[in-house]
Amino acid sequence: MSPSELPAGVERVLFTQEQIEARICELAAQISEHYKDKNLKLIGVLKGSVFFLAELARRIRIPVKVDFLAISSFSNRSGAPGLVRIAKDLDDSIEGEDVLLIEDIVDTGFTLRYLLQTLSSRGPNSLAVCTFLDRTSRRIVQVPVEYRCFEIPDHFVIGFGLDYNQLYRNLNYVAVLNPDRAG
Ligand code: IMP
Ligand code: MG
Repeated sequence: MSPSELPAGVERVLFTQEQIEARICELAAQISEHYKDKNLKLIGVLKGSVFFLAELARRIRIPVKVDFLAISSFSNRSGAPGLVRIAKDLDDSIEGEDVLLIEDIVDTGFTLRYLLQTLSSRGPNSLAVCTFLDRTSRRIVQVPVEYRCFEIPDHFVIGFGLDYNQLYRNLNYVAVLNPDRAG
């Protein structure tokens, strides 16, 4: 796509649709192999992870269940300690299941730490994390991340599920936000 076709809020493209698809295929193959004798359930964190989860799940070659939860997050980019609560819980129990928590991005790690604490208390057989993007340079609390599509630099990003003021989730690429021109 030429720069003139990009939306105003896009500073530059970080990962194209082709790069994203290729990487998701690799992750799906790893996950299919690792969980082939397990009871895999993907848990998506609304709303950002929906786009990634849908692409990933379509390429996983073993039986898989899907469930979602939503959180309200009060963590902010200035690094203030994150306060998180569940705004919409899972529909079903995860007891005895092999849960793969699907995130859009792990930044400070506060959200993920809260989710792992909450879900691990519900008796899953196993609990692991797969994130679309990982920004380890801003990590404040250490959290285990088993699968990641891409490590990213310290810029606010949009697209492929990631939003700025609820916009840009539908971009089929990941881009750095231009805050001066964003909607
Ligand atoms: P954490 O608790 O700091 O790890 O925050 C993770 C959450 O912050 C993600 O699930 C996103 O909702 C949001 N977030 C962090 N960085 C970005 C970004 O660059 N673009 C869009 N959302 C972000
Ligand atoms: Mg999120």
